[in-house]
Amino acid sequence: MSQEWGGWFVAIDDGQVIGAGAGGLTADHVGEIFVLYMDPVRRGEGVGTELLEAITAQQKEFGAMEQWVSVAKGNEKGIPFYEAKGFICIDERKSYATTEEEAYTSLRYKRSI
Ligand SMILES: CC(C)(COP(=O)(O)OP(=O)(O)OC[C@H]1O[C@@H](n2cnc3c(N)ncnc32)[C@H](O)[C@@H]1OP(=O)(O)O)[C@@H](O)C(=O)NCCC(=O)NCCS
Repeated sequence: MSQEWGGWFVAIDDGQVIGAGAGGLTADHVGEIFVLYMDPVRRGEGVGTELLEAITAQQKEFGAMEQWVSVAKGNEKGIPFYEAKGFICIDERKSYATTEEEAYTSLRYKRSI
């Protein structure tokens, strides 16, 4: 298994995918959550926590000692979750989509693992 892309972690309930996440290492000892998303009607049940824990366990096996995630500024679904997990906002950067009007600010969050 590549350390740069650790593969998908998928939460399944009754044959249905209800959430998924993935991460990898961006440098020695540095983990990154690339994506973590729950079905909107299945949020707040603790499954996002389980997915994050599974990705984190894998990254620790890969030797990660810190973990980063990007969250869009103003994302009130993602930010409270990561702050509850001990992530701290370190940096703010402008991201560009296909057009200038779609530019948005993303926040870089980090925690020790
Ligand atoms: C972020 C996300 C993955 C969290 O998954 P989840 O299954 O809903 O989260 P959990 O039920 O495991 O919540 C864990 C903790 O986060 C906190 N939390 C989560 N969402 C919150 C919210 N909107 N407001 C306040 N606290 C929140 C709670 O304190 C909860 O702690 P508790 O276990 O003590 O109750 C999910 O809500 C989601 O898909 N959001 C939209 C997509 C997104 O923004 N992803 C992040 C960008 S990659």
